[in-house]
Amino acid sequence: MRREKIRNQEKTIGNIADKANMILISYIDDEGFPVTKAMLKPRERNGIREFWFSTNTSSNKVGCFKKNSKASIYHGKMLNSEFTEVIMKKGIILYTSKYGATKKYANWLMEETGFDCMQTKTADLGKISKYDVIILGGGIYASGIAGLSFLKKNYSAIKDRKIIVFCVGASPYEELDFEQIVEHNLRGDMKEVKCFYCRGAWDEESMSFKDKTLCKMLQKAVSKKDPSTYEVWEKALMCAVGQKCDWTDKQYLIPIIKFIEN
Ligand SMILES: Cc1cc2nc3c(=O)[nH]c(=O)nc-3n(C[C@H](O)[C@H](O)[C@H](O)COP(=O)(O)O)c2cc1C
Repeated sequence: MRREKIRNQEKTIGNIADKANMILISYIDDEGFPVTKAMLKPRERNGIREFWFSTNTSSNKVGCFKKNSKASIYHGKMLNSEFTEVIMKKGIILYTSKYGATKKYANWLMEETGFDCMQTKTADLGKISKYDVIILGGGIYASGIAGLSFLKKNYSAIKDRKIIVFCVGASPYEELDFEQIVEHNLRGDMKEVKCFYCRGAWDEESMSFKDKTLCKMLQKAVSKKDPSTYEVWEKALMCAVGQKCDWTDKQYLIPIIKFIEN
């Protein structure tokens, strides 16, 4: 078993305790011997140093705690490999973000998972091949997911790892539109890569001159078309005209985190 430091101990251990159905509790008895008992999950906790369990007030345990409050708890899952896999998995988040929304999601993911995080443009195969989980996030620009060329180039060397793509666009989530984005970007072997959508932001004022001009030109051209014939990116573009919006929300990361854990 590889040993890795748990980055956010309070959060990781707290989450495990909250999800546990059963906990092992160890304490010292009257005669100074260590005792371990299985308990139902804690009713309450205060951080990861104070846990409250339900028990009979006349129980032996309570008497022992009154005399010697030193104790430790252990979650049963720690005994099996499933636990060690979740905690010990080593992951990296690579991101490509022009206007900050993808970077925000990458940083949130880093906080939640304790994985490393870097810009895709600074990554190379040597750096990422030591990771078990590789997450690649990119903004969507005219239906293309930024930074995917890195995955295409290195896919055959890393395809045995858990690979996850998340893309960040301005349009609201629509299943069919998202399927088209996935089809368009993850082709061939990469079809099997799991892809998630997170809604980003739109602010024409913060855009580069090139992007702003491009968006204006495209919006003008697209506005002449029949809306029922819009392509996915055209729909997104027309929805966003003149808006300044930030739709970023941690909720979008829940399915990604669940997928990492499973
Ligand atoms: C030139 C350009 C093209 C875009 N095309 C799309 C698109 O096709 N679909 C979409 O949902 N959003 C599109 N967007 C919106 C971006 O995906 C959105 O602003 C996202 O937050 C960008 O990620 P970032 O903030 O990490 O750069 C486009 C934005 C620009 C500037």
